[in-house]
Order: sequence, then structure tokens, then C-alpha cells
Amino acid sequence: MKVYNIFPLTICQSKIDIEDKEKSNLISLIKEMKASSKNIDYYNKIGSWTGDTQGFENLHHNSEFNNLFGEIKKKLIEYLDVLNIDQEQLDIYIQRSWATISEGKEHIDRHSHLQSHISFAYYLKKSKEDSKIIFYDDKRHNELIPGLFESPTANKRKIMKKFNVQNSASISIDPEEDDIIIFPSKTPHSTQPNAVNNQRISISADISLIAKDSKLLEHLTPPIKNWIKI
Ligand SMILES: [Fe+2]
Repeated sequence: MKVYNIFPLTICQSKIDIEDKEKSNLISLIKEMKASSKNIDYYNKIGSWTGDTQGFENLHHNSEFNNLFGEIKKKLIEYLDVLNIDQEQLDIYIQRSWATISEGKEHIDRHSHLQSHISFAYYLKKSKEDSKIIFYDDKRHNELIPGLFESPTANKRKIMKKFNVQNSASISIDPEEDDIIIFPSKTPHSTQPNAVNNQRISISADISLIAKDSKLLEHLTPPIKNWIKI
């Protein structure tokens, strides 16, 4: 039987090559941010420390991060190339960027970034045992019986004989230190809840794609220079 697997979700993984000295400096800066958290009650030590909820959501304004974001920009362009999106016609904006630190069993629950187009996680510090990233499929085109892919009882009875990309509600990716994972912002994701982290540090950002020229374009966001504040 010929099988068509259609309508994929494309997530890209690549290496970011920056010097160890620069990485150590960024790690120190992020630890300083955590030490001066502005909303410490929000950090419950079940969830990871996330800089965007603690007053540090603009790493891209900090010149110490310039080189890193320059390297990341190259990867974002490669990602757009993979999807055959003509980046020459788009301005790529970082609208928000922050660090996360996970210690022990801390994790980040399932969420998505609905106010942007592309998001990424870059792993500045990560050991093999640290938590993976998990992506969830909201569409589940192949879930013939709703709930089947995640049903504990059906799972126990092995109604699904095995799981693969055709029949999974979630899939984990295991990045290494220096990796970047790039994905559509609207994709639900979390970190692995049951891992024990040895101070895993990642940097994330939300990216908006804005048309350089809005002429004859209906669906893209027009150039910000054409906006007026009212
Ligand atoms: Fe996220």
C-alpha cells in the first residue's frame, strides 16, 4: 500500500558555535539576573526560573548578547529557507528574549507563544541528563478515535501496538549543549517533567516576521514604519 504522510510540522535543530569564554560570560550574566529576580513569588521551584517573568525579557537589548543573536539570525534564515519562505521580502524582529534556568526537577509546563511567529530555544548549558523539549500535536489528523493516542487504558491494553511520528500526540527532542531548536511559535511545547536537571540554561526568543513592503499583500503584518499610534 502506498502511504502519504502529508501536512508535516517542521522543527529545525542546529549548532551555534560561540567561544567558551563568551558562553561563561553569558552564563554569569544570566545567574546574576536570577539573583536579582523582580517577581520571586512567581518562581515556585516546581517550574523553572524564566527570565521573562522576572523582569529580564529583553536580552536582545544587552550588547553582551549581540554576537549570539547574530549567530542565531543566520539559523533563522536557514529555517526560513527550509520552509521556502522568501526572507528577502521580510524583516525579522526579535520582540522578546529571555533565559531559563532549570535546577533539579524544575520544568516548564505545556504552553505556546501565540503573540509571535517563530520561537527558538538555544541551549547555553545542558548535560545529557537534563530535560528534553517536548512538542505536542493539537491536530492529530491520524487519531481516528479521539483520545486514543494518550489514553492510559488503551495504552495499557496496547491498542496502539507501537508509537511513531504517524500516531503520537507528543514527541520529545533531545538537544545537546550549543544546539538551537527552531519552531513555529504556535506549536505547544514543554520541558520534560520527570528529568533531574543539573542547572540547565537555555535562551529563548520570540520572532515576528513583518513585510518589508505591504503593497498588494493582504495577510502579512505591514511594515512598522507605516503604523501610527492612536
Ligand atoms: Fe516556550
